[in-house]
Amino acid sequence: MDRSEEWHVSRRGVLVGGSATAATMSLNNADARQPLPQVREAIAEVTLSVNGQPRRFKTDTRTTLLDALREELKLTGTKKGCDHGQCGACTVLVDGVRINSCLTLAVMHDGDKVTTIEGLGTPDQLHPMQRAFVKHDGYQCGYCTPGQICSAVAMLDEIAAGVPSHVTDDLSAKPQLSNAELRERMSGNICRCGAYSNIAEAITEVAEAKA
Ligand code: FES
Ligand code: FES
Repeated sequence: MDRSEEWHVSRRGVLVGGSATAATMSLNNADARQPLPQVREAIAEVTLSVNGQPRRFKTDTRTTLLDALREELKLTGTKKGCDHGQCGACTVLVDGVRINSCLTLAVMHDGDKVTTIEGLGTPDQLHPMQRAFVKHDGYQCGYCTPGQICSAVAMLDEIAAGVPSHVTDDLSAKPQLSNAELRERMSGNICRCGAYSNIAEAITEVAEAKA
């Protein structure tokens, strides 16, 4: 085939393609002029028992429990690390069970009992786990510490209740707090400062005191 004809066809194809692109852009521009759909706020009233106190507040139904605690109730002990369920900084207890509060909506917990780090102990009367963290230097910057402590408290209750973990060998026996069990069960709580060995010492001391 004559090379000039090949070029001719290609050039025409480019021109056709260019026109189609221009038409699409013009349509997109027309779309952009359309008013955006109105986003309707959905506000709900939520009642929680937080650290033993009834707390009632109105919030957008899309508010996470973490944001409700920090923004609506001003309980800033619970920390926002990743906001994606990956770091454990936001761990609180709901009806005694630890959860990542960034992964759940406040409206889903209407009527539930929530315990945050502020409800475990006070500066004058620390919870044994808080005291052990201080004694064993279980923190550096302290950002992960509220989540670590809430998680550790619930984790010891899980073991006492016989809840197995991924590393439990014998599912018919009561789990024991071995080093492997402790590290597996606390693996959802990340510490960027790397205070893990001191955290493990603190938890072990509390577990032994309870035994
Ligand atoms: S902030 Fe919830 S898991 Fe990281
Ligand atoms: S003490 Fe700093 S992140 Fe754990």
